[in-house]
Amino acid sequence: MTFRTLDTANVAGKRVLLRADLNVPMHDGVITDLTRLERLTPTIRELAEKGARVIVVSHFDRPDGKRVPGLSLRPISAALRDLLARDVFFADDCIGPVAEEAVAKLQPGQILVLENTRFHPGEEKNDPVMAEQLARLADIYVNDAFSTAHRAHASTAGIARFLPSFAGRLMQHELEALTSALDHPDRPVAAIVGGAKVSSKLALLGNLIGRVDVLVIGGAMANTFLAAEGIGVGKSLQEPDMHATARDILARAKTANCEVILPIDAVTATELRANVPTHIVPIAAVPADAMILDVGPATVALLTQKLASLRTLVWNGPLGAFETPPFDASTVALAHAIADATKAGKLRSVAGGGDTVSALRHAGVIDQISYVSTAGGAFLEWLEGRVLPGIQALQSLEGVIFPA
Ligand code: 3PG
Repeated sequence: MTFRTLDTANVAGKRVLLRADLNVPMHDGVITDLTRLERLTPTIRELAEKGARVIVVSHFDRPDGKRVPGLSLRPISAALRDLLARDVFFADDCIGPVAEEAVAKLQPGQILVLENTRFHPGEEKNDPVMAEQLARLADIYVNDAFSTAHRAHASTAGIARFLPSFAGRLMQHELEALTSALDHPDRPVAAIVGGAKVSSKLALLGNLIGRVDVLVIGGAMANTFLAAEGIGVGKSLQEPDMHATARDILARAKTANCEVILPIDAVTATELRANVPTHIVPIAAVPADAMILDVGPATVALLTQKLASLRTLVWNGPLGAFETPPFDASTVALAHAIADATKAGKLRSVAGGGDTVSALRHAGVIDQISYVSTAGGAFLEWLEGRVLPGIQALQSLEGVIFPA
């Protein structure tokens, strides 16, 4: 994978349009997790310190092409100002006269955040007119939003046709970490995939089978595989109409020499409620009136033992219903085992997806994993082996000469 990084960008005095992902989680107007903003600050600082006029663009939430005051980026630009401890200016529009005037006032080293790109219908349509209006604001385009690279929008893809384009530091590190985990991994490489539904992760499982040596299936998704193999899963969440698909995945894994690990024991209860009475049972002995809500300690021991033989691990999706204790136990134990192997220098670990990031934070080991992606949908599409339009836009411009 080739893309130009900031090492080769001459940004001094230039207007740099930086596509960021300021789509942070918010509750009642308060940002509940600053990780995405914190990860962005090195690129902004580097550009500002090199004398660029930094113009940050992003979407926020899904206003559907209309101006929705509650979805303004203004409060998020204030949070960015606090994190950077520098002035951050704000313009009420991302294109047109308001944006153009704000950009014209910007001095080298200064930072401006433009209003939500999705207030304009042209953004999600990847309208070339909107892409050109955005491009008019800048001399150089830097994309630092891997987490939105699965969207072919005006500010993530279309704009790259009009400006010399580069990957920002966050994008660069994300791509380096992800490609070293799946494209050129140290082997053996394993993937742990959890989550609720086989149907939503079908493409991902299909791609991973051909790439990893070991595939661990956890979460409610494992119930579908177990049931497909004729194992009783009681009242557990599962997808009966996916049994044939699950069997097909297992058969294809065998042909590809990919070892599939399913739970060998389970923590069961009659309802999903915090601190409800639970039982630990071998996987073949799940009572008909019970639900599997977590994998059991024997499965955790098996996975921990397996980890010792691995060099690379990709993790997406918790093993159990981790948001409801005590069904977080296996996910927390696994997170610690991964963190320990990583700290010991034996394992390169890459994790991503909203639930996985929450689980790592809950386990207190988020800083002990080799790389944690803050991307949700983009991380999943990357695991599916799909070409992400935002990345493709950066690559297709290798060697293109733009007018001065
Ligand atoms: C995300 O939060 O995953 C990205 O910002 C993309 O958001 P979207 O799913 O609304 O396109």
